[in-house]
Amino acid sequence: MGEKIIYDFSTSACRKDTNAEKYTLRKELFGTDDVNPVWVADMDINTPPFVFEAVKKRLEHPIMGYEEVPSSTWQAQIQWMKRHHKIEIKEEELLYSHSVVASMSVCINAFSEVGDKVIVQTPVYPPFFHSVVHNDRKLLKNQLKQEEDGSYSFDFEDLKSKIDKETKLLLLCSPHNPVGRVWRREELEEILEICLENDIVVFSDEIHSDLVYAPNKHIPFASLSDDAKNITITAIGVGKTFNMAGFAMSSVAIANEALREKFLKVYNQIHFAQGATLSHVSFEAAYRYGDDWLEQLKDHLYSNYTALKELCARYPAYIKLTPIEATYLAWLDCRAMGLNNKKLRKFFIEDAKLGLNAGLSFSKEGSGFMRLNFAVSSVKILQIISQLESALKSREENG
Ligand SMILES: Cc1ncc(COP(=O)(O)O)c(C=O)c1O
Repeated sequence: MGEKIIYDFSTSACRKDTNAEKYTLRKELFGTDDVNPVWVADMDINTPPFVFEAVKKRLEHPIMGYEEVPSSTWQAQIQWMKRHHKIEIKEEELLYSHSVVASMSVCINAFSEVGDKVIVQTPVYPPFFHSVVHNDRKLLKNQLKQEEDGSYSFDFEDLKSKIDKETKLLLLCSPHNPVGRVWRREELEEILEICLENDIVVFSDEIHSDLVYAPNKHIPFASLSDDAKNITITAIGVGKTFNMAGFAMSSVAIANEALREKFLKVYNQIHFAQGATLSHVSFEAAYRYGDDWLEQLKDHLYSNYTALKELCARYPAYIKLTPIEATYLAWLDCRAMGLNNKKLRKFFIEDAKLGLNAGLSFSKEGSGFMRLNFAVSSVKILQIISQLESALKSREENG
């Protein structure tokens, strides 16, 4: 056994001179470049070195023609899924995708008709409801319930009461962005039962499933039972886990052949093809060599979350931090500040000089909330906390 490598998350490379969306769009989104950007869900943490080593090695070959996703790449993902999520996936079940959101759109087109209803559980990552509306389907909003401690759960009664014959598809966010929940087996089983009873196909977006904090455990929806397997399309990938969104590669797993054929009909019309060589290489390296890195990353992320939690606990009259089980996205309940959404945004941009996502963009239940991405280096989390603390302090002092 080789020696365990210790990865360093204390600092990260400067992204200002790259085309990083998080930095480039500041002026457009926040009206100023003078904000520390903590919005879009990628990390201000270096992508792991073993990914670049594999890419550099491939670059030694001077031809970049069309390439197939090699079996070794799929096998790396299959082994990862087995090791980390106790699910057996066969190679023929996997399809290449450049984007989870694109896969979601293919599903909407493959498993519903114009005018049919698609379920989303709000507040949720905006492309969930945009994809439904842009494809001329009707949005069936099954709002999540908020519990006393600020955490969220499914509202099964609401879901059952809203489903009708036009309801064809459920877009599940598991783990959930932005509320940070890891759905328990019993919760998923109840969703499954409802979907089976009503002939509803499930698109399970599991892009955040590696970023789950102990003792929580991610349960792939398709792993619940054979019945679950037969109605599920799962989206998985390395984009969030290893900060590799720039390589634009994820996969879609569909165990049921009939479901896969239906999906493929739309997928082939669009011509997804096989993607980019460097994406295949990086995807494989991440899954093959990423176990230790991920373990250390999660410790680092959780310590950032703890620091943020301690800050919020110092200002209980202003911000309540939603308990988190997964993801690096903090869902800040700022309703106690008594500001309307415009003024709340202004507080974060002008007083704290931080660029967060407005809660309202995750649907109307996000009113009074803000989403803060804490996937940054140790140096940067201190800056972010200090900026937010001085803004809160001055608010407290000035009444
Ligand atoms: C739940 C969820 N799904 C999908 C995506 C985006 O995936 P992709 O870039 O592969 O379309 C994100 C990005 O934030 C996300 O949070």
